[in-house]
Amino acid sequence: MSTLVVGSGFVGRAVAARLLRTGEKAVLASRTPPPENDGPPPPWSPLDVTDPDAVRRTLDTTDAERIVLVHGPSDVTWIEARPEAAMRAHAGAARTVLDAAGERRIVFISTDNVFDGTVEAPDETTPPRPANAYGRAKLAAERILAEGPATTVLRVSLVYGWEPPETTKWLNYFSSCVHRLRAGERVTAPSDQWTTPVLVEDVAAVTTAVLAASGAPLLHLGGPERISRADWARLIARESGLPPDRVVAEPRAHGRYASRPANTCLAAPLLATHPATAGVPVRGVRDGTRLLLGRAAPPEAP
Ligand SMILES: NC(=O)c1ccc[n+]([C@@H]2O[C@H](COP(=O)([O-])OP(=O)(O)OC[C@H]3O[C@@H](n4cnc5c(N)ncnc54)[C@H](OP(=O)(O)O)[C@@H]3O)[C@@H](O)[C@H]2O)c1
Repeated sequence: MSTLVVGSGFVGRAVAARLLRTGEKAVLASRTPPPENDGPPPPWSPLDVTDPDAVRRTLDTTDAERIVLVHGPSDVTWIEARPEAAMRAHAGAARTVLDAAGERRIVFISTDNVFDGTVEAPDETTPPRPANAYGRAKLAAERILAEGPATTVLRVSLVYGWEPPETTKWLNYFSSCVHRLRAGERVTAPSDQWTTPVLVEDVAAVTTAVLAASGAPLLHLGGPERISRADWARLIARESGLPPDRVVAEPRAHGRYASRPANTCLAAPLLATHPATAGVPVRGVRDGTRLLLGRAAPPEAP
């Protein structure tokens, strides 16, 4: 089975790597090639997913039988200033891909930002109600793709994983916290913005399991532990042997997370019962943090 993974970013690369490791064919696609900092990159094809001709051509040339849609943009602040561009990139691309896909299986990686954060941990039955432009664009794309004959919308909570310190711009909160704390910087984080973080390797494992199955139009994937960003940063400091008072807690409304819902959390009851995903482990943030820090070099002296 060959899979076209649209989006060569943090999550897309992990999904393609997992497919290749398990003996499947996978091709990444995006406008610019992925960086080569994780060893040899997976096969890659240039694609602007908002271009209908390019989407049709890419599906033909890659012989893709399945599609994972995991492209950007996803920067909440950037999107809030450019809602129309985000709507084109998500809802526009969803229509384009659905029209070109025929009977192909599609897995769309969506977000907890389709909820406004007033429910602590929404499950698949909670009515979505986005409070920001990012959530509105992703929800519009979900609804278009749900018209397809073989779509699963997989809503994923905050994804984290290891990125090396020399990376020019860390793509995830965990890596940014670790490297800044190790460099002796203070990390300012909200004490009232809650997430259910999930390891990127677990996201890749669940996505590939879902891709191989059918029959679940909508699934949530959140980690089993809910934690505030400030508490997570303190956990990272403690587990790194660094003073937790390098973390400065502030109210969400005062900082860069002001446009995020108070809760970007997901409850995922169906994952445990869906035949494709029931045996796939999803680690909590404490285990995941310790696991990643065990992989890393020991922290430098403060
Ligand atoms: N990371 C998370 O915590 C998280 C959680 C839940 C859901 N998600 C979803 O997962 C998706 C990817 O997240 P990520 O963290 O992997 O993002 P990322 O690292 O920023 O990667 C986004 C990728 O999308 C590509 N892209 C953007 N516009 C494109 C276009 N028009 N055509 C083709 N490719 C395009 C980008 O490359 P170019 O710009 O070079 O094209 C890049 O390779 C997002 O849609 C987000 O909603 C992420």
